[in-house]
Amino acid sequence: MVSPMNAQVTAGRLPLVVGNWKMNGTRVTNVELLAALRASGPFDAEVSVCCPFPYLADVAMSLQGSGITWGAQDCSQHEPGAYTGEVAAVMLAEFGCRHVIVGHSERRSQHAESDTLVAEKARLALAHGLTPIVCVGETLAERDDGTTEGVVKRQLSAVIHTLGHCVSQIVVAYEPIWAIGTGLTASPQQAQVVHSVLRAQLAAASTRAIEMRLLYGGSVNAGNAQELFAQPDIDGALVGGASLKAADFSAICRAASHAALGSTGKSRT
Ligand code: PGA
Repeated sequence: MVSPMNAQVTAGRLPLVVGNWKMNGTRVTNVELLAALRASGPFDAEVSVCCPFPYLADVAMSLQGSGITWGAQDCSQHEPGAYTGEVAAVMLAEFGCRHVIVGHSERRSQHAESDTLVAEKARLALAHGLTPIVCVGETLAERDDGTTEGVVKRQLSAVIHTLGHCVSQIVVAYEPIWAIGTGLTASPQQAQVVHSVLRAQLAAASTRAIEMRLLYGGSVNAGNAQELFAQPDIDGALVGGASLKAADFSAICRAASHAALGSTGKSRT
C-alpha cells in the first residue's frame, strides 16, 4: 500500500497535474477531450492544460468556470516587437493563461534553447503574472555517466541566478529525457532522489522552497501516478501522451486528488 502525500500536505503543497498536449489536437477533438475532462472533475488537485497557441481561445471557453486552468507550452524571451513567429508572455496573460511551460527538453534540443534563455523566459512569464513551469532533465548518456545531478542543478541554477528569491514563484518539472514519450519511467525512488536534490538547491535560494511544487514528467500514466505522487518531494506531474486521453488524464488527476487528501481524508478545496 502506498502512503499518502503527508509531506506535501504538511507543507501546504496542493498537487498540480499539467497536461502538455505538445503539437496535437484539432478544434473538434479538443472540445470532446475537455468536455470529458470537465465531466470527470472536480478534482482535489490543481489541474491545468497546456495547449498549442491557436487553441487558447477555444480552450479558455471550454474550461471557463470548471476550476481547471490552462496555459501554453512556450513563450518568447522578448516583450512584444519585431520577432516573427514568437508569442509574448503578455499575450498569453490576455488569454487567461495560468501557466507556461519553459525549457521543455524538446525546445532545448530542437530549438537550441540555452539555460540562460530559458531563465529569461521564466522571468518574463512571472513579470506578466504567469507561473512558469521550468523543465529540467538529463539524457540517458548523462544518467549513465553519473552526471544527472550536475545537469539538473546547472539548468536550475541559471533560473535561480536570474530570479533570485522570486524563484519560489515558479514550478519545476523534472523530466528525464530518456523517459519522455518512451514508455520508460524513472522509478519513484529515482525521481525522488532528483527532486530532493532540486528542493535542496531551491532551499539555498529561497526560504519558501518547502512550499514549492516540483512535478515529475516522463511517461506518467494512470498506472504509475499514485506511486510517484506518494514520494515526499513529488507534488504532481507534467503529462504528455496520457493527457490526450480523457480517461487516462482524469485517472492521473484522481491519483493526485487522493494524494492531496493526505492523512486527513478531508477535501482541501
Ligand atoms: P510524456 O511527455 O508523458 O508523453 O512522456 C511528458 C512531457 O514531455 O512533458
